[in-house]
Amino acid sequence: MTTRRKLIAGNWKMNGLKADGLALAKGLADKLKAGPAPACDLLVCPPFTLIAAVVDAVAGSTLAVGGQDCHAKTSGAHTGDTSPAMLADLGCGYAIVGHSERRTDHAESDAVVKAKATAAQAAGLIAIVCIGETLAQRDAGQTMDINRSQLLGSLPDGATPENTVIAYEPVWAIGTGRVATPAQAQEVHAAIRAELTKKLGGEAAAKMRILYGGSMKPDNARELLALPDVDGGLIGGASLKVADFWGIAESC
Ligand code: PGA
Repeated sequence: MTTRRKLIAGNWKMNGLKADGLALAKGLADKLKAGPAPACDLLVCPPFTLIAAVVDAVAGSTLAVGGQDCHAKTSGAHTGDTSPAMLADLGCGYAIVGHSERRTDHAESDAVVKAKATAAQAAGLIAIVCIGETLAQRDAGQTMDINRSQLLGSLPDGATPENTVIAYEPVWAIGTGRVATPAQAQEVHAAIRAELTKKLGGEAAAKMRILYGGSMKPDNARELLALPDVDGGLIGGASLKVADFWGIAESC
């Protein structure tokens, strides 16, 4: 039996000024240092403006830090963008790519997401590749097709369980308080793992972590995290309070 260590990842989105962002990061790092640590890996993805300060603030703890996005190139004429090498240079271990808000706000296609994930991995980062259907797509019975095509279109060629995490985030559950039922989550997670098995082989697919994201909170996390193919969470709103994020981590 393969044991996948769960990953609880906080996606702060465009939230956090210096004072509250650093207090949040320090609060989590202090809890980790005081122990006992939850049975999962913990990651925070602050806005770019706070990454360097958060890396400093959590030094000496096991809290990992990541970016919410990255460019597909290492450097060059791309005003306003941040390369994976820059994230790695700051001390990041992860980069989220293809979040549905990026796909919508910045028209990121699967090909763009794949290029970003590939670049993140080349810089030594673990890419968290996000996929998920909209409510209209779910209502039209397209959930599996959409997730399959986003997965296959966004997954880098060199994806391994060590350099890639998948995040299934139904768009209708993000920030809405409307969480997927355990049955809905498990159904899609199992289908994603089946696709990964076809693409990467059984051993790699069994080891690759698949996170659930979308209105995960302390009061629903335990049930979701107990599902056989749910290997952690990508948390938005509930990652902005130490007690909520810690409560989710403790559900592992
Ligand atoms: P939410 O966001 O937890 O606020 O629903 C999840 C995400 O977008 O990653």
